[in-house]
Amino acid sequence: MDKFKPLIDSHGRKITYLRVSITDRCNLRCVYCMPEKGVNPLNHNEIISYEDILRFVNVLANHGVNKVRITGGEPLVRKGLVDFTRSLGKIAGITDISMTTNGTLLEQYAAGLYSAGLKRINISLDSLKEDRFLQISRMGNLKDVLRGIKLAQKTGFNPVKINTVLIKGINDDEIIDFVHFAREFEINLRFIEYMPIGGNVTETITSKEIEDKIRREFDGFEPILENGHQAVSQAVSKEFGFKDNKAVIGFISPLSEHFCAGCNRLRLTASGKLRLCLFYDSEYDIKKILSGEHEDEAVFNWVSNLIRLKQDKHNFSEKAKKPGSLLWANDFMNGIGG
Ligand code: GTP
Ligand code: 5AD
Ligand code: SF4
Repeated sequence: MDKFKPLIDSHGRKITYLRVSITDRCNLRCVYCMPEKGVNPLNHNEIISYEDILRFVNVLANHGVNKVRITGGEPLVRKGLVDFTRSLGKIAGITDISMTTNGTLLEQYAAGLYSAGLKRINISLDSLKEDRFLQISRMGNLKDVLRGIKLAQKTGFNPVKINTVLIKGINDDEIIDFVHFAREFEINLRFIEYMPIGGNVTETITSKEIEDKIRREFDGFEPILENGHQAVSQAVSKEFGFKDNKAVIGFISPLSEHFCAGCNRLRLTASGKLRLCLFYDSEYDIKKILSGEHEDEAVFNWVSNLIRLKQDKHNFSEKAKKPGSLLWANDFMNGIGG
């Protein structure tokens, strides 16, 4: 057998994690993710097929990718998701399958996904107030998400993580309420700095500001250390705990303290494009490559050459200084999956 060839970019980072957006559609219209009128959704034939995704994951799994996250849009709106998840789990080398969802449809799918092999799940939750939840999601019902979170815990998903995007002037007055919520549910809640993708540049509230606010309110709020050091590695989140409660509070700081040095990921968009970084809009048509008569090894070589183009870090702060940059005007998060 040929010598094992890992996927390593030109900055020495090993690629082990693929984020797959399986649909650009969503049953919500969150302000930070989609334009108000929604997007022109991709046609059925423009979306990458499950079959192609599975083949692509299989190719990458032969070269060291072991973690796949299913994202959207909202992944639960695509038909056939449970069977797809089961098939992912059968790919040799894939040891970690997870999903990021808005949680509203979990009542219908939680049990099926769990038995198909999905064991951990991240759920977005941006307000604990019903009217505000509706204002941010433009069409969602907070109760559905809260029910989804409870059900996910009851079904056995572990961990269940909550993703909270904080937007200055919109939901940053709920920081302490979110911490109480995390403590009540003994859950892992991550505050995410709002990334102004899609052109809506507003001021971002930094993780440090949030951390300071929580520390003023709760005694014993301390970083979770591994061997005396904060666990950073390839995780995007810096985690903190409490002396008197099992809840974990994480901070995801793509803007104020980016985690690019440990970047181990690639993204496959809903239209079947490979994206090397969330913040660069160059995309490469994997769907087209897969539709050709290429052997798996040729597909791998194509990816392997491409990842040499992966930048060492994002250049958001420079871009932000140039309003109107096409990079930001063209992209919405819904087809990339965060
Ligand atoms: P875990 O496996 O649970 O650590 O998942 P995750 O945090 O990688 O995934 P999730 O989909 O929950 O993403 C949480 C937040 O981190 C979202 O806002 C993502 O957009 C953001 N995020 C994830 N990966 C990257 C990345 O490579 N770069 C940037 N800038 N943001 C990322
Ligand atoms: N900034 C930060 N996080 C975002 N997400 C979606 N859009 C943005 C943004 N502009 C988050 C969602 C979801 C995850 C996939 O990415 O809340 O939890
Ligand atoms: Fe990787 Fe780009 Fe995210 Fe940085 S911004 S961690 S380089 S995907």
